[in-house]
Amino acid sequence: MSIRTIGVIGAGQMGNGIAHVMALSGYDVMLNDISQQALDKATDTISRNLARQVGRGKVSEEDMNATLARIRTTMKLPDLGQTDLVIEAATERETVKQAIFEDLVPHLKPETILTSNTSSISITRLASRTDRPERFMGFHFMNPVPVMQLVELIRGIATDDATYKACHEVVKNLGKTAASAEDFPGFIVNRILMPMINEAVYTLYEGVGNVQSIDESMKLGANHPMGPLELADFIGLDTCLAIMNVLHDGLADTKYRPCPLLTKYVEAGWLGRKTQRGFYDYR
Ligand code: CAA
Repeated sequence: MSIRTIGVIGAGQMGNGIAHVMALSGYDVMLNDISQQALDKATDTISRNLARQVGRGKVSEEDMNATLARIRTTMKLPDLGQTDLVIEAATERETVKQAIFEDLVPHLKPETILTSNTSSISITRLASRTDRPERFMGFHFMNPVPVMQLVELIRGIATDDATYKACHEVVKNLGKTAASAEDFPGFIVNRILMPMINEAVYTLYEGVGNVQSIDESMKLGANHPMGPLELADFIGLDTCLAIMNVLHDGLADTKYRPCPLLTKYVEAGWLGRKTQRGFYDYR
């Protein structure tokens, strides 16, 4: 099937990036959130990130204006009913995602492909709560979406070939690279990345190094663009903890035990950049 219109659910860090790259590649986008404030903030962020791309000569001013004109926002989920592909990018909590799909499904045209940007939750389980498990899959972007080259595509047990091919084509049209991952906890990227971040938090917790020395060691010693603690703040400590819990529960191995210090920071509401405080202080 040919995909022209994209529904994006959730206007946060990932959702606004997804709306940005989709519209920049010529898709019409309907961006949904339960909060008008979040939608306004997302539109502002997209404008700012596009302006940055114009400033660096990556996007023309004309393309920036056309991109912004292709993005519509709505607080009504049924407005996404006529889109060809829906990407859910709401909070990383299974009950929240399931409730969204249950509300959305009655409004969808039969051929719409449903996907989730989940970073670790079972695609098969999410799909089973919809009316179209064969047209359901994982469509996982990396942060910051406009910059990162990879999209993980995850087939649930029932996903059909036409759905996979249609999503693969969209990734190609974005100028990004698709990696196929099987539907197991954390897929590929987070199965490897999150235990590394968690280990960095243990390294801090046990006093092996301080925040600066841990990050500097990994930047200069392993050539990572960001240190693991800086990256954890960037991703969001609540998201890191949620993914570690999925790995721990799903793989039943103590090597995935979330570091108690990570749990404590989340309990304190120190979630990283988004709350201005995490391993670093952004205030
Ligand atoms: N929108 C558009 N462009 C952006 C952008 C955004 N949000 N953020 C950065 N850029 C652009 C900049 O304009 C700049 O462009 P040029 O190359 O044309 O100069 C380029 O990206 C680099 O940015 P900066 O110069 O500002 O900063 P930097 O060189 O320090 O790079 C970074 C910033 C790209 C974020 C880099 O630090 C990096 O790659 N960090 C690691 C990010 C990472 O690992 N992401 C994956 C997280 S895991 C995940 O997302 C999965 C999950 O489920 C948790």
